[in-house]
Amino acid sequence: MTATQYLADWRPYPFEIDETRLEFHLHPTATRVLSQIDFRRTAPGDLVLDGAGLRTLSLSVDGQPIDPALIHEADERLTIPDLPDRFTFSAEVEIDPQANTALEGLYLSGGMFCTQCEAQGFRHITWYPDRPDVMAPFRVTIHSDQPVLLSNGNPVEQAPGRAVWVDPWKKPAYLFALVAGDLRAVSDHFTTMSGRDVALNVWVRPGDEGRAGYAMESLIRSMRWDETAYGREYDLDVFNIVAVDDFNMGAMENKGLNIFNSKLVLATAETATDGDYERIEGVIGHEYFHNWTGNRITCRDWFQLCLKEGLTVFRDQQFTSDMRSAAVKRIHDVQTLRARQFREDSGPLSHPPRPDHYQEINNFYTATVYEKGAEVIGMLKRLVGDDGYAKALDLYFTRHDGQACTIEDWIAVFQDATGRDLTQFKRWYTDAGTPRLTMTEDWQDGTLVLNFRQDIAPTPGQSEKPPRVIPIAIGLIGPNGDEVLPTTVLEMTEAQQSFRFDGLGARPVVSLLRGFSAPVTVTREITANEQALLLAHDSDAYARWQAGHDLALDELTRRATGAAGSRALVQALGGVLDDAERDPAFAALCLALPGEEEIATTLAARGTPPDPDAIHAARHALLSEIAEAHQTAFARLYEAMAPQGPYRPDAEGAARRSLRLACLANLSRRDGGARAEALFASAGNMTERQGALEQLIALGRDAQALADFEAEFRDNRLVMDKWFMVQPLRAAPDQAVARARALAQRPDFDWKNPNRFRSLISGLTANHAAFHAADGSGYDFLADWLIRLDPVNPQTTARMCSAFETISRYDATRQARAKAVLARIAALPGLSRNTAEMVTRILA
Ligand code: PHE
Ligand code: ZN
Repeated sequence: MTATQYLADWRPYPFEIDETRLEFHLHPTATRVLSQIDFRRTAPGDLVLDGAGLRTLSLSVDGQPIDPALIHEADERLTIPDLPDRFTFSAEVEIDPQANTALEGLYLSGGMFCTQCEAQGFRHITWYPDRPDVMAPFRVTIHSDQPVLLSNGNPVEQAPGRAVWVDPWKKPAYLFALVAGDLRAVSDHFTTMSGRDVALNVWVRPGDEGRAGYAMESLIRSMRWDETAYGREYDLDVFNIVAVDDFNMGAMENKGLNIFNSKLVLATAETATDGDYERIEGVIGHEYFHNWTGNRITCRDWFQLCLKEGLTVFRDQQFTSDMRSAAVKRIHDVQTLRARQFREDSGPLSHPPRPDHYQEINNFYTATVYEKGAEVIGMLKRLVGDDGYAKALDLYFTRHDGQACTIEDWIAVFQDATGRDLTQFKRWYTDAGTPRLTMTEDWQDGTLVLNFRQDIAPTPGQSEKPPRVIPIAIGLIGPNGDEVLPTTVLEMTEAQQSFRFDGLGARPVVSLLRGFSAPVTVTREITANEQALLLAHDSDAYARWQAGHDLALDELTRRATGAAGSRALVQALGGVLDDAERDPAFAALCLALPGEEEIATTLAARGTPPDPDAIHAARHALLSEIAEAHQTAFARLYEAMAPQGPYRPDAEGAARRSLRLACLANLSRRDGGARAEALFASAGNMTERQGALEQLIALGRDAQALADFEAEFRDNRLVMDKWFMVQPLRAAPDQAVARARALAQRPDFDWKNPNRFRSLISGLTANHAAFHAADGSGYDFLADWLIRLDPVNPQTTARMCSAFETISRYDATRQARAKAVLARIAALPGLSRNTAEMVTRILA
C-alpha cells in the first residue's frame, strides 16, 4: 500500500457517468449506503472502482449480482471486466461513522453526521471511481431522524425523516457532501447579477446562532466580489455553509454545501481576534471562489492540485486586499510564504507546485501547492499585465467549464489569450526550490548597471536547475528620498543578466523586488543607511517594510552570532514611531521584529548552524533596547491607539489594535506587566485580551489571568483552544515543554479533536528555543504525541511531522536527537502511510 503514484501513469477513465444516485440510511455505527451509478463506455477497458473499509453487502450490474471475489481488499479496488457499453452498477455497503476518527469519509462530530471527501474520502463511503476526472450529476436521498438533512445542489423533497437533494452540475466524488444533525440556520439571501435569488444559510449548533453573522456577511461580500472582479455568478438556488468542531483542515468547498472548521465560522468581538475575523472572511471567500475555480473547472488528477488551490488562494488574496488594506495584506502574505513555503522549499520536503509523484496525496496540501501556487499566478499576471490576465481568465472559464484540467491547459490559456510563449515560465510549476537572486551594482558617470545572478540549490530528486523567468520589479530612490525611477519590471530570463540605467544625477538606492514581485530570496550589498533611507522614503509599502525588516534581520543575526550590536535599527524605528499615527498597521509590522525561526533560517542559509538559545537571547536583548529607547513614544501611542467606540472587526480598527499591542509588548518589558494586567481586566474584545494575556505569560505573571480566562470561557471550545495554544507558545523556553506536558494531562485536553491537538502541540513547536531545546525534550514531547495520534488520525499526525523538516540546520547533537525520535516513529508497527511517507522523506 505504499506504492508511489506517478503523474506519468495517468490514463483516461474508460467510462463516463450519466448519473450517480445515492441513498443513505444514517446510523451512528451502521450506516447503509445504496448506490446506483449509470456508466457509459468511452473507451475499452475494465471498470475499476475504489473502496476502503467498506462492509460490502451486495454488488450488481443491471440487477445481476457480482462475484465478491472481484474485490481486491489489499489494494482497495474492485475490477469488473467484460461490461457492456451502458449499464447501471449498484452496491449496498455498511459503514461505521462513529468509529471514523480519521475524519475522512462519513463521520460523527458532536453527534452530527458530516463528510470530508477530498482528496480520497469518498471511497470510505461506497464503491466509486474516486478520481477527480470522473464527474457526474448526483441525486442523494437521506433517511435519518436528525432534524436537518443536507447534501449538494438543490433540495427537491424535504419531509420528516427524509430529504432528497439533486445537484445538476457534474462533479467529482471529492466534492460530495452530506450533513445531518440538530442545526440552526442563520439565513439571508443574495440576488445574483442576472437576477436569480439564492437562499444562503450558515448552519451552526443551537446556541451558536449569535456567532455566525460575520460569516454570513463575508459570504455575501464574496459573492458580490466574484461577480465584479471575475464576472462569476453563483449557479444553484441555495448555498449552505456548515460549521463542525472536528475537522482536519480549515474548510471544504463541496458543491453548494461548504463544510467549515467551526473556528473559521464562529466569531464575536469577545471570543475572536482581529486575525480570526480576517481569516474567516478570507476562507469564506476562498471556499466560495472554488465554485468556479475547483468545482465548475476541476483537476484532472491530484498532481494538478495547485490548478485549483494556487488560483483560489490568489483570488482570496485579491479579495482580502480589496476588502482591507492591500499593503498590509501583501506584507502578511509574504511573511507567511517565507515562514512556511521557503522553509519547506529549503529542506527535505521540497517539491514543485505541481509534484510528479507522491505516496499519500494528503501530504501534498502544502504551502508550496497553495501559497507558492498563488505567487506563481501573481508573477504570471505581472508578466502578461492586468488586461492579459483578464483575457486569459475569461478564456479559461469559457474553454474549460465542466472539465477536469491540467497545468498545461492553464498555461495554454495564457499563451492563447496573450500570444506570449510561456515555455520557460512553466518551470515555476515543475521545478522545486526557491531561487536565490544576487544583485551587484556598478555606478559610473550617471549610469547604474544592475547585475543579477540566479541560483537554485538542488532539491530532492532534482539536481539540474535551469534558469527561470523572474519578474524583478524595481524603483530607484535618490539620496534625498525622491523617487527617480518609478516601478519598472525587469524580466530576467538568463542565469546572469545585467540591466542599465543612464542619465542619473546622483547615485540612487535600488528599491528591489517591489511588491515582492517573485518568490525568491535576495542577496545584495546595502548599508544600514541605505536601508534606513528606503524605510523612510520608498513609495512601495512592501519594499519599505522589507528594508526595515532586513535592517532588523542583519542586526539580529550579527548579535546572535556574538558580534556587537549597532544602534541603526533602534534609530530607524524612532522615525517609524514618529509617523505611526498616520499608518498604525505599518508601524506595528515594523515593530514586530523577525521571529526566532526566521533568524535561524537566515543563519542556516549563510552556512552557520543556528543556536536557538543565542538567538532567543539576542532578540530579547534588542527588544529591550528598543523598549528603553522609545518608552515615551510607546506610552504616547498606547494611549493614542485606545479604542474609539465599539469594536469593529475592520482593517482600521485592527490596525490601531495591532499598534497598541506592539506598544504594550514594549511597555511590558519595563512596567512589570501592570498595563497588560489592566488591559486584560478591562478589554472588551478578544484581540486585546489575548494580546495582554500573551504578555503576562511571557513575563511569568499569568496565574491569575489564566484562571480568570478559564473560568470565563470554560465552555467555549474555540476560546479554550487559544488558552491551550498561548501558554506553550509564550512561556519562557526553559519552561515551555514542562508546561505543555502538564497541559496535556488535563481532562479537557481532548486530543482527538484536531483543533485542540494542534493548539497545544503547535503552540510548543512554534516556540523555537523551546522546541529545539538542546536536551531534546521538545522533540520527545512532539514524538510522543505523534505516536499516540497516528492510529487515530493519520492526516493530522502526518501534517505535524513537518515540525522536523528543519532539523538538518542545527548542530550535530540536536540533529542526532531529532533523528532518534524520528527513527522511533518510523519503527512503529502499523504506522500510517501518511506519517510513514513524511518521516521517510525527512530522514532521507
Ligand atoms: N480543498 C480545501 C481548501 O482548500 C482544503 C481541504 C483539503 C480540506 C483536504 C479538507 C481536506 O479549500
Ligand atoms: Zn482551496
